[in-house]
Amino acid sequence: MVEKMMRTLVIIGSQWGDEGKGKITDYYADQVKYVVRFQGGNNAGHTIVVDGERFAFHLIPSGVVRGKTVIIGNGVVVDPAVLLEEIRQLDERGIKVNLKISSKAHVIMPYHVAQDGLQDAMKGKYAAGTTKRGIGPAYSDKAARDGIRMMDLIQPKILKEKLEFIIPIKQKMLEIYQSDQVLDSGGIIKQYTAYGKALEPYIDDIEYLLNDAITRGSKVLFEGAQGALLGIDHGLYPHGTSSNCCGQAASTGTGVPMNKIDYVMGVVKAYTSRVGSGPVPTELTGKTGEKIREQGNEYGTTTGRPRRVGWLDLVALKYTTMINGFDGFALTLLDVLEGIDPIKICTAYKHGNDIIDRWIADTNFLKDCDPVYKDMKGWSPRSPQEWNEIANKGFDSLPGPMKEYINVIEEFIGVPIVLVSIGPNRNDTVIRKDIFNL
Ligand code: IMP
Repeated sequence: MVEKMMRTLVIIGSQWGDEGKGKITDYYADQVKYVVRFQGGNNAGHTIVVDGERFAFHLIPSGVVRGKTVIIGNGVVVDPAVLLEEIRQLDERGIKVNLKISSKAHVIMPYHVAQDGLQDAMKGKYAAGTTKRGIGPAYSDKAARDGIRMMDLIQPKILKEKLEFIIPIKQKMLEIYQSDQVLDSGGIIKQYTAYGKALEPYIDDIEYLLNDAITRGSKVLFEGAQGALLGIDHGLYPHGTSSNCCGQAASTGTGVPMNKIDYVMGVVKAYTSRVGSGPVPTELTGKTGEKIREQGNEYGTTTGRPRRVGWLDLVALKYTTMINGFDGFALTLLDVLEGIDPIKICTAYKHGNDIIDRWIADTNFLKDCDPVYKDMKGWSPRSPQEWNEIANKGFDSLPGPMKEYINVIEEFIGVPIVLVSIGPNRNDTVIRKDIFNL
């Protein structure tokens, strides 16, 4: 039998984002040449801890701390001010930034940021509770073909021509939203021309770069942002984000075709967390929820908002597994559930008199679904050092109830859990299967 040559790995959040993708990406980044972002923008927040030092990224792929070439694909919306600040901060910490940005990536403009907050505030119960980073309006303009792309930023004449007709329209829009903000057309043109100059060395035709690299046998990691339940097509519309957060977006968001994608990994956290609005069937609003929030430090990396938390929802997980075709899972933050007994897992929903085993992406339906739980035995608390020692010893030394928890998840979704994470550090990780040597 011919062994499959693994060249490309896509890492996707399989729930509502914040599953600990940063750490998983960082782990696999060591084994690849390129790490690529392909959707979302600085609404994302990926935290990784290296030798006790904490890094939080919003735009730059987290592989940067491994010294890898990092790429921002055409599917990403880029706020140049945020990107330049991240580059500056990395530089200050002595980390060399090998970055390429797709010339086709769209730019988040100041009027997008203004519009985001105003628009969401007017939507009442239909609001997404956005991160107010301008993500939705930037993607709207992209679809309406009114966007500014990276290639425009580096062509001052074209940038000026476009902004001179776009900005007056945006000014009118702000007035409709009853904002008295005045857009300084000349100032914006000047500022964004300067951003273009600063970013020019990084701008490239990344579809050629990546396809050539993969053909030559280089390994590439595609780093998803947000989570599958937030995706614009298959997530909980309108409470999600404005990009597709599924594995398929790695292809459209970079120009690497589907048949060059070898492995799609879902990252699932041992419980559920959610920032923003909309129903979460397994949400915990009492003391257990508070305990999980505190133990898991469940506060947004981007906005600092306390995250809503709940039990693991296997109905939702089975749905995102189907949509993404996950080949394997990384199960994260298991240590956070220490000292909680019993632990519940949702295996179905009750809707009226019906038992439902499907996740229906309809707010009105989902809000009337009550979870059906399976009770699982919990495990006792350990110190960070003890968790680390357990990780070093391997899978067999995990607490018995934790292994049972892992088995139940694996059996229910029918996909192997190839990595288990029991702490924030790189080495608090148990590898069950080496996916680059399938
Ligand atoms: P937006 O992406 O800022 O438009 O926000 C839309 C929804 O997605 C809101 O409910 C946000 O809280 C949520 N969201 C956006 N980015 C992330 C993320 O990286 N993690 C978790 N939730 C996110």
